[in-house]
Amino acid sequence: MGFDDMDVDTIWMDGEFVDWDDAQIHVLTHGLHYGTGVFEGVRCYDTENGPAVFRWEEHLERLYDSTQPYEMEIPFSREELTEATMELIRRQDLESCYIRPIAFYGYDTLGVSPGDCPTQVAIAAWPWGTYLGEDALENGIKVMVSSWRKHSSSQIPTNAKTTGLYVNSMLAGEEARRNGYREAIVLNKEGNVAEGPGENIFLVRDGEIFTPGLSESILDGITRNTVIELAEERGYEVHDNVSISRGELNTADELFFTGSAAEVTPIRQVDNVEIGERGPVTEELQQAFFDLVERRTDDHDEWFTYV
Ligand SMILES: Cc1ncc(COP(=O)(O)O)c(C=O)c1O
Repeated sequence: MGFDDMDVDTIWMDGEFVDWDDAQIHVLTHGLHYGTGVFEGVRCYDTENGPAVFRWEEHLERLYDSTQPYEMEIPFSREELTEATMELIRRQDLESCYIRPIAFYGYDTLGVSPGDCPTQVAIAAWPWGTYLGEDALENGIKVMVSSWRKHSSSQIPTNAKTTGLYVNSMLAGEEARRNGYREAIVLNKEGNVAEGPGENIFLVRDGEIFTPGLSESILDGITRNTVIELAEERGYEVHDNVSISRGELNTADELFFTGSAAEVTPIRQVDNVEIGERGPVTEELQQAFFDLVERRTDDHDEWFTYV
């Protein structure tokens, strides 16, 4: 479903609420040419107490952190971006939605150096269902190990959520889909497992949980962090600072992806190797995750910003 089929009409841009169709930028915008933007993907869930944005503070923190390597200054305070986002959701009467804040070098010159290009900021919010398909959460997905490697963190800071990085994600994901898979797994430069194009990955073996460490060229995912905490609270041993070799994917008892868009999605096949239906650990953590975000539990209320 494209934006034109959605009941949305407002975007917050550079300090003002504007009509959806008026949220325009110049074709010579620096960020368009060189990928010099940073962004977030955040979900807001429909709960008994109204719409609630999940881990907004952490997403905002990562947005400002992502600007650091690029010496980009967001000309708005955290409070201003928070108020803009909540008001945007209220104005459009959204219940559950996806929120996309973005900051990028704008229009002034087109040298690779951004020079005096202003930092422009926009926030959009729209309804967005299951990212990897309706049946994915229950039945799991087939994934392909991509022939594209993830850029090393010595080449581009992989812990910053930068727009330019996503050409790698697009190449990997489209390669997988062309070959009949729903999503890709991307290896890092060393050939170990990094993550999905827009997801972190978890592996279950002998009742313990493993996920690549932050030095494996991954994004420090907020859902990753959430799932680690939920798993530890349930007594699982979580190894979150390990390298995972490609072959370990094939021998895993269970595999799943996490992400703000993908939530907790089981993986049932890697290349030609069957991992199996959604396993018990994945199911337990997935259930815990949805109980949490849909507020069927009082736990971790500090992770929610009620609209
Ligand atoms: C490359 C990449 N890895 C991991 C993630 C998962 O991060 P999060 O759980 O914060 O959405 C995302 C999505 O933002 C991503 O784009």
